[in-house]
Amino acid sequence: MKSIYLIGFMGSGKTTIGKQLSQALELPLLDTDQLVEDHYGKQIVEIFQQDGEKTFRLYESEVLQSLPEENVVVSTGGGIVEKRENIDYLYYKGIVIYLQASFTEISNRLKNDRTRPLWNKDLDAKKKLFNRRRLLYQQCADHTVQTDGRSVLEIVQEIRNIID
Ligand code: S3P
Repeated sequence: MKSIYLIGFMGSGKTTIGKQLSQALELPLLDTDQLVEDHYGKQIVEIFQQDGEKTFRLYESEVLQSLPEENVVVSTGGGIVEKRENIDYLYYKGIVIYLQASFTEISNRLKNDRTRPLWNKDLDAKKKLFNRRRLLYQQCADHTVQTDGRSVLEIVQEIRNIID
């Protein structure tokens, strides 16, 4: 089976859903943020501060394209779609599941979060980013799954039905 890529905005549940989905499918879970941190020996916040977002995006693309194209579940960083090459890569190589959440839901989930540099902005900047990204996720998604007010189990079951 082609690898399954979970995409979506920060806080849309990619990591949580990825863990449950990988268990249910008995496939390994790979997380691009975790792999960047492990490979470069720095936390994402530090990479943004010391090397800048551009460098982070390079690392992220390198990691994405080094992953197995079959039989893994990949939880991606919310900005993976910032690079056109990544959108194309995901579109052609994988089964891409877009976990969609509303801005209100994301804001609730991330209200105490200090680990995401691009969420640590004013409301207007966050809304703009959210609206711009929405279109990018749609461009590479094979399937869109709504997550607002739904349990992890329900979402995982929907994804399993989609890929069966
Ligand atoms: C980012 C999302 C983060 C992480 C980095 C940048 C983004 O991942 O890759 O902070 O640009 O949206 P999550 O989506 O897992 O929070």
